[in-house]
Order: sequence, then C-alpha cells, then structure tokens
Amino acid sequence: MDDRDLEPYIGYRLRADVFAASGAHILSAGTRLERRHVRLLQANRVILRSQDVTAFSYEEEASIKEALTDIRHVFQSAATGGKLPVVDYVKDRILPKVLSLASRYTRLIDLLHLLQDKDEYTYKHTFAVGIISSIIGRWLGVRGQELVRLTMAASVHDIGKSGIPSEVLLKPGRLTEAEFDLMKRHTRQGYELLLASGFDERTALVALQHHEREDGTGYPNGLQADQIHFFSKIVAVADVFHAMTSNRVYKSAMPFYEVLSLMWEGKLGTFHSHILYVFIKQIMELNIGKSVVLNDGVPGNIIYVSSSAPLKPLVNRQGKIVDLSREQHITIREWV
Ligand SMILES: [Fe+2]
Repeated sequence: MDDRDLEPYIGYRLRADVFAASGAHILSAGTRLERRHVRLLQANRVILRSQDVTAFSYEEEASIKEALTDIRHVFQSAATGGKLPVVDYVKDRILPKVLSLASRYTRLIDLLHLLQDKDEYTYKHTFAVGIISSIIGRWLGVRGQELVRLTMAASVHDIGKSGIPSEVLLKPGRLTEAEFDLMKRHTRQGYELLLASGFDERTALVALQHHEREDGTGYPNGLQADQIHFFSKIVAVADVFHAMTSNRVYKSAMPFYEVLSLMWEGKLGTFHSHILYVFIKQIMELNIGKSVVLNDGVPGNIIYVSSSAPLKPLVNRQGKIVDLSREQHITIREWV
C-alpha cells in the first residue's frame, strides 16, 4: 500500500488514536475507516502506514469467521452422519474463501497470527492448512483447476478427526500409545468419509497420506517418496508448519523462524526437499524489509535472502549489515 494514498485503508480499523500535527485528536482507535474519515485525515494531512490499521478489513474478518463456522458445520455433520451435502458445502462456501485469502498471501504471517489460537483449533487448523497449501502450490507452479483441487483436498485433510473422541483430540497432556493409535486413525477415517461423501480419490488420498513422510517413518502405511502423492507432500509441509506455530491445549506456539529452522534441519520429520526449500525461501523473501528481533534481543531488518541459505539472510542490525550465514551465533528470534 502506498502510504500517501488513504483509499486502500477504507474498511480497515485503526489500531491507535490518530492526531494531527497540531496535537488535536482526529480519530479514535478502533474506528472502521470510511470515506468521510479518509477525507478528514487528508484535510489534516495525516499519513497512515499499513501498521496503523488492522491486518484484515472488516469484510475479510467477517469472511474468516464465516468460514470457520462453515468448517465447524462440516465436522459436526461428519461426526453425526448428518445430511449436510458436504461436497457442495465445501465447494460453494469454504473453498472460495480459502482461495481468496490464499491469493493475497503477502499477509500470510498476519493470517497465521489470527489462526494460531487454541480455541476451536481443529477448524482454524483446517482453514489455515487449506490456505498455506494453496500458497505453496502456487509457489510450485500449480495453476488453474489443479490448484483448486489441491486447495479443496487441503481444506478437508483432517475431516477424519470428526470421528476422534474430544477427550483424545483435546487432551491437554501427552497421548498414551493407545490414544495415539486412535488419533492416527483420522487418516483412514478421513479417506473413507470423503469417498463416501462423493469426493474424488485424489482428494481422499490427501486425508489418507498427509502424515506419511519421505523416509517411510510416517503413518498410516509407512509409504516412501514416490509412493506419496504430490498434493499430500505439500499438505504435510503446511500441516506441520501450522501445527507447530499454533497454540494448542498442551503446548504454546513456537516462533515461525524456529519452526522453519527445525523443519529445514529435519527435526520435525522428512519432507520433500524441493517443496520444503521453496516454502522456506518464499516465506523468507516475503519478510524482506520486515522487522525482526535477533537472539540477543537487538532489533533489525531483513534486507537480502540468498538462494543457497534462505534461513541465513543479511540483516540490517541498527545500521550495521550482518550476514547470518557467517555469524553463526546470531539467529532470528522472531518476526515482528
Ligand atoms: Fe492430520
């Protein structure tokens, strides 16, 4: 957004009170900007920056809330064997919202902040994984109907969790082996449920395979590399990234950069290397110019991301350029 043009801010809410240069109070925090407010700001020569308003417009926030309600309906209907026409419901109501948010991925981090809350985690996770998978697909060159199919499959990947008892799904502590075995069943259950609801085989396969890993250590079938569908590999990356960066009933969210680093080091499972590389490089590039806090507490700005070491960017650290690929002891603690 151009900082001088206030039109794009219409529909967004102010994060803080706005004052004129004279000190006079003009607008209050929380004001949903309308054209008349923009005229008032322009008359007072006030310049807004994107960080002065909420990340999402009022309409976008309403659309996200509506999507979460729709996803809850789908899960509840699946759990009770209800009569909801799931395919139509997902296609007509959920998919367009996922695709629309995914097409504006410059706000990915803001969106993830909005969806990392532990309340109603399963629904937020479903929605977030749909969006992230769609974004990764686009980054990998998936287009048109293929992208729609991938997004659809990702948006229902965990539907099998509708059949898992909530005392296991929402257990605050570590799962016992028996409980984990039960939890693992959401893959097969999702596959069967999606086929029974009229989804195609490819969509159902993502539900079945998104916990499989390249090295055969995943579940339910211990498949390896080429045995796993390309869409399932994409959803696997999106799934783990969102799960680890979210607050859960049994653990707090981990910072985005730390999760990317752990994924890159193979500590969160073995993913398809090219998909993971593209995901990490693009996320880092989206953060060029953004503020970060380094592990010594000093703030900085990412100024360059290299192809060979995307997690080790050049950072402007209070006027001094630091190359994180050389200064191994300095890392990014968090994006701000
Ligand atoms: Fe899952």
